[in-house]
Amino acid sequence: MIIKKISVDGFKNLSGVDISPEEKVNIICGENAQGKTNLIEAVWLMSGAKSFRTTRQTDLIGFERDIAKIDLCFEDKEREQNISVTLQKSTKEKKILLNGVKQRSLSNLFGVLKCVVFTPEDLELSKGSPDVRRSFIDLCISQIKPQYAKTVSKYENVLMQRNTLLKNIAIGISRQEELDVWDVQLARLGAYISVLRYNYTKKLGIFAGSLYDEISKQREKMTLYYASTVFEDLENQTDYNGVMTDVFLSELERARVEDIRLGFTTVGVHRDDILINIDGISAREYGSQGQNRSAALCLKLGQAYILFEETNDMPVILLDDVLSELDKSRKDFVLSQISRMQIFITCCEPIDKISGGRFLVESGKVKKVR
Ligand SMILES: Nc1ncnc2c1ncn2[C@@H]1O[C@H](COP(=O)(O)OP(=O)(O)OP(=O)(O)O)[C@@H](O)[C@H]1O
Ligand SMILES: [Mg+2]
Repeated sequence: MIIKKISVDGFKNLSGVDISPEEKVNIICGENAQGKTNLIEAVWLMSGAKSFRTTRQTDLIGFERDIAKIDLCFEDKEREQNISVTLQKSTKEKKILLNGVKQRSLSNLFGVLKCVVFTPEDLELSKGSPDVRRSFIDLCISQIKPQYAKTVSKYENVLMQRNTLLKNIAIGISRQEELDVWDVQLARLGAYISVLRYNYTKKLGIFAGSLYDEISKQREKMTLYYASTVFEDLENQTDYNGVMTDVFLSELERARVEDIRLGFTTVGVHRDDILINIDGISAREYGSQGQNRSAALCLKLGQAYILFEETNDMPVILLDDVLSELDKSRKDFVLSQISRMQIFITCCEPIDKISGGRFLVESGKVKKVR
């Protein structure tokens, strides 16, 4: 997958950007606060994912602007494609075109342009709280199975309704029986999510595990394990519409009294975690900073490899400020792993030993330099 052309205008501080990236390495340099990350973010949004920095759409539009427009032309293994996104502040309108055909939402773009983004926050993937890992795995699955993102958002919606109801039951304005209808929906969606997450984790364990062998020079073993709050063992479980929904439902019922007392749902995929062990012990609890960073890098690289395996298209790699955070051997490792892909790297200082297209970002303008 190769991005051929990027045009951005009115997106945050970027204006009149019109660049043709190189097929392999693209170095985006410039001083602080000039717009380097904004450029990465603009590309990332075209992959259908949410911004890695803000949740409000108006924040994406330039302070003094009414319209933000991003146009991208890229080539996958089959053909050339175009994505065009226009966001308007005053009307709150969003216009999304894929090859000229109107799309309902940005998430419809999932699976079209495949990108993997590394930000400094991603280095917390292993050390951070479970929700970071859940969101990561959900995003990974959505890139391969675009419908999955909708299932997750439905689950979150039902969960919110159920939690509101729990609170209303506690104060006596709703009845317990009203939970039944929400529980059934939560169980159905949750069983499906559990299966997909379990399978993805298993696969990621293989890919990321072998990358970890390499980064640790075979000295340590990393293993992943999907820890479900509902199912004891997810191996070979596939019947998410049948027996798994029943198990999920009975766990919700078992937790009911406690849930009402606490005012939130204590079991379900929103409480699950992906456990990362190094040599059999939890990296998060006992691992060193270096081990956790290596683990995080291997998870993200694993994401890229799985995308390639599943879709037969190399993803575009966006590296925002990550290299400067890494020591030499990890830096070399990451670069060697992605050398066959198109990459965009932001940096403040020149990076030695990497050659490729260079782009200078200055006050929201981007120009190619030699
Ligand atoms: N909605 C917006 N409209 C206009 N400018 C914005 C908007 N949101 C953020 N900015 C500006 O964008 C600039 C930051 O851009 P960005 O994060 O891309 O910088 P950067 O080049 O990556 O810097 P660093 O090297 O520090 O990471 C800031 O000056 C910020 O004020
Ligand atoms: Mg930045």
